[in-house]
Amino acid sequence: MAWSVVLSLYYVLLARDRASAIHCRNVAKYSYNLGCSLGLSSKEMKELYVAALLHDCGKIGLPDRLLKTTRKYTRWEKQIVQQHVVIGRNLLSSLGFSKDVIDGVYYHHERYDGLGYKMGLQGNNIPLYGRIIAIADAFDALTSKRPYREPMPVIEAIQILNNSKGQFDLELLKIFFHDVVEKYMKQQCS
Ligand SMILES: [Fe+2]
Repeated sequence: MAWSVVLSLYYVLLARDRASAIHCRNVAKYSYNLGCSLGLSSKEMKELYVAALLHDCGKIGLPDRLLKTTRKYTRWEKQIVQQHVVIGRNLLSSLGFSKDVIDGVYYHHERYDGLGYKMGLQGNNIPLYGRIIAIADAFDALTSKRPYREPMPVIEAIQILNNSKGQFDLELLKIFFHDVVEKYMKQQCS
């Protein structure tokens, strides 16, 4: 896995959908910090960072009318948008990325309670990088500015994540709140 390929994919996403690329960069930062707290090896940290940075790269393949819209998706549109995990997986596997990186991308919308997509995997059957990225993804989505709303205060985001316990790996969520969110709040205050 060459960094030039990782960066190329990132820059294509940036050109295609700036908001998604910025979101990916934030998710990579949060995921990396969570991986650090978990004591992952340097090889795993690199893989996790790449998987998180490219977790939404499949959005490159979505039509503009869905990528740029600020309204709610219809049921049919939602199904098309959900394909971004398949497009991402296919893109990364064709470029020779490792299975763990591909799994992180493919499974980042799975939920711990089995109600996610695309495979409906449950609990620890969801690969670790997918479980980590899912938490970082939700946190950034809530605390970032969206075209239709202002960023949510961190305390509210924590409450929402905390109340969606079935969605996330609780052990990881606990560490995320304790280490990553605390660090984030310190940065905001400094
Ligand atoms: Fe996604």
